[in-house]
Amino acid sequence: MNQEVSKALRGVALLKVRNIHHWTDRTFSFNCERPQSFRFRSGEFAMIGLIVDGKPLLRAYSIASPSWDEDLEFYSIKVDDGPLTSRLQHLKEGDEIVMRPKPVGTLVHDALLPGKRLFLFSTGTGIAPFASVIRDPETYEKFDHVILTQTCREAHELDYGKHLCESIVTHELLSEIVGDKLTHIGTTTREETPFMGRMTDWIRDGRLAAAVGGQLDPATDRVMICGSMAMLQDHKAICEEMGFIEGSNSEPGQFVIEKAFVD
Ligand code: A2P
Repeated sequence: MNQEVSKALRGVALLKVRNIHHWTDRTFSFNCERPQSFRFRSGEFAMIGLIVDGKPLLRAYSIASPSWDEDLEFYSIKVDDGPLTSRLQHLKEGDEIVMRPKPVGTLVHDALLPGKRLFLFSTGTGIAPFASVIRDPETYEKFDHVILTQTCREAHELDYGKHLCESIVTHELLSEIVGDKLTHIGTTTREETPFMGRMTDWIRDGRLAAAVGGQLDPATDRVMICGSMAMLQDHKAICEEMGFIEGSNSEPGQFVIEKAFVD
């Protein structure tokens, strides 16, 4: 390794890629070895990437695996001219990625006050931090009912979330912990499916309330939101209209938001 590269690698960990799954022509997930000393809270993100021209090219990625898992999983979009994802999408088993091992984020239990129902609203790859949260036993110790929603343009984009929820049902230990506490609602906006429309519309017109047995209520419900800027703004506006107060790590509240980071 030349001197420049070894200097660039200071402060970052190299992680071997174990496997890659291409879900659609625009999304893929991959698993990496987790450094033994790397600790994070389910729902957090870290800076990951590749060495490009001798320097680390890093972007913020939510960790999709739960904090107990010995692997680290990431779920990514592919952007043809995206500086990182145009390269990352060609990862192969055995390749190495780099990670700055300093996880941060607000989509964590510490940023929420206790409650009865936990709503996890996502669009597209914004489901990634919730893939972590819904596989964390702490989530079911803290909440009686966990509702994960994902809205995508087309049906096949919901496959990652469907597979994720199926994997919980068939997991020996998790299935027992989760029981019937998890509800998954996947909706589409540009392809005809049984569940159509943006979740913001579902909340406003009562379809969500009908599906889960009651409208959102700041007295008992807690909310995490992850998606595009526009999606975050709209969901945040709904929460605030309903009287929810935004939380943070230093001051827990009734809802928290985080941008789904893309190139
Ligand atoms: P729509 O097809 O009506 O725009 P994108 O790929 O543009 O990020 O969108 C992913 C999904 O998120 C799409 O189904 C899209 O619906 C939906 N979406 C986009 N903007 C918002 C928003 N402001 N509030 C709720 N859902 C949104």
